[in-house]
Amino acid sequence: MPHDHHHRHGGAIEGRHSDRYNRFARLFAKAQYRRIAADIASAAPQDAAVLDVGTGPGLLLRNLADLRPDLRLAGVDLAADMVAHAERNLADLPARPDLRAADVAALPFEDGAFDLVVSTYSSHHWSDPETGGAEIARVLRPAGRFLNYDFPRAPFDAFDDLTETGRTAFRTPWTLFMKTIRFEAVDPG
Ligand SMILES: C[S@@+](CC[C@H](N)C(=O)[O-])C[C@H]1O[C@@H](n2cnc3c(N)ncnc32)[C@H](O)[C@@H]1O
Repeated sequence: MPHDHHHRHGGAIEGRHSDRYNRFARLFAKAQYRRIAADIASAAPQDAAVLDVGTGPGLLLRNLADLRPDLRLAGVDLAADMVAHAERNLADLPARPDLRAADVAALPFEDGAFDLVVSTYSSHHWSDPETGGAEIARVLRPAGRFLNYDFPRAPFDAFDDLTETGRTAFRTPWTLFMKTIRFEAVDPG
């Protein structure tokens, strides 16, 4: 995660790239996921339905499940290979998250299905962030929130179907190597 060379390829991280990413994330990025999961855990309402978009190997979901067993967790990723890694990494959780291969621009969920949508280091890969933002707004219930942690060059201005409520530098254990912005928005309903 602290390297972002793969952004040049855009889109799904498949095949051996997904294997490498999974190994890297499991070894080095633990503290990063813990920090972000703690921030999300303090924002999530009791028993909230939470969707992680571009979940990759699912390690954020794993940390969220540990911190907040009450949450109903779901994750999507464009890359089927990443979803397979997430299935393996989350297989031993008592409540298995609902994991699906899907594009943020065509989310396979009902309108208003989630109280909270989150995403980490994924939105800079999205080929159509405007439609992604519209889809996130659609699957959020009115007044539901979107929390997106990504690099400063991520397309935060494209999410205009949501009402932005904050955009701040977010300190993480890897801040020196990967400056992270915490973008927060709310579904206007
Ligand atoms: C750098 S990884 C981050 C993964 C994970 N969130 C993390 O923090 O470790 C970016 C992920 O976004 C996924 N992705 C790219 N474009 C996407 C899209 N349009 N819809 C859903 N996921 C997408 C990639 O397949 C990849 O798994």
